[in-house]
Amino acid sequence: MNWLDDKRDQLSKWIYAEWQDGVLLRGDSLEIMPLLKPIDSIITDIPYGISQQSNGLRSLDYGEWDHLNNMELVWMEAMLRMIASTAIIFCGKEQISNLISYAKEKKLITKILIWHKPNPTVLNCQHHYIDATEFAIYTKKPRAFFKPGYKHNVFEYPVVHSSQRNHPTEKPAQLITELIGDISRPLETILDPFAGSGTTGVACIRTGRQFICIEKEESYCAIGQKRIDDEYIRLAEEARQLDLFQEAATTYRRRSNHPRTR
Ligand SMILES: C[S@@+](CC[C@H](N)C(=O)[O-])C[C@H]1O[C@@H](n2cnc3c(N)ncnc32)[C@H](O)[C@@H]1O
Repeated sequence: MNWLDDKRDQLSKWIYAEWQDGVLLRGDSLEIMPLLKPIDSIITDIPYGISQQSNGLRSLDYGEWDHLNNMELVWMEAMLRMIASTAIIFCGKEQISNLISYAKEKKLITKILIWHKPNPTVLNCQHHYIDATEFAIYTKKPRAFFKPGYKHNVFEYPVVHSSQRNHPTEKPAQLITELIGDISRPLETILDPFAGSGTTGVACIRTGRQFICIEKEESYCAIGQKRIDDEYIRLAEEARQLDLFQEAATTYRRRSNHPRTR
């Protein structure tokens, strides 16, 4: 990444992996974000702080990283300072009102996006409705780019199957890919300061955006690095297949124009 060259000295101790279109930084995003250049947009998924909150029924525990509570406004303030355009922040339902109030105070356009999961995790379904939705705050500067022109705020994508899941709260790469296409132009830079298993990086490669991912856990950095490497390999293989196909088509066309084969 070109801009990284100017900041390499300051960021070197956090650089975990680097590619032609992006970088994965390992560390605390609150410490790292102030050192970055302003970026176009953020797409992220903050810790929800819901693990270990038990009400007598079976409850989820995503791990140590989700045991922090009441950090959403500190993170939101740091993130909004970074963006020129738009932020999409997946969050827990308990965090929504705080985040919306904060964005409105800053005079930003703010909406809730709904991810509807046709195959949700079934937990305590004999006692209450099944949670088949997750929420994100969409907030943007008034003139920031918005591609669709006319679009509802509900997105339907299945949850990643447990056998293929890289992170307990992994978002489907297709969902993030669609959101990136809605809010940004090719070659713009997207930041994910809570990158988990690197889904935003993968989606940026698919859509031709630059990316900066920050994740503090080493195990998720290793997973994210592998997923991003694999995505480049997949794209290179797709391009190779296309070349082979085009070569075969050209040869076929040449043969069928040849007088003896006509
Ligand atoms: C909700 S998960 C993101 C999952 C991601 N959307 C995916 O698809 O894999 C939030 C991640 O933020 C990381 N995290 C928590 N606090 C952090 C901090 N202060 N700086 C950087 N990463 C942090 C956690 O380790 C966790 O992996």
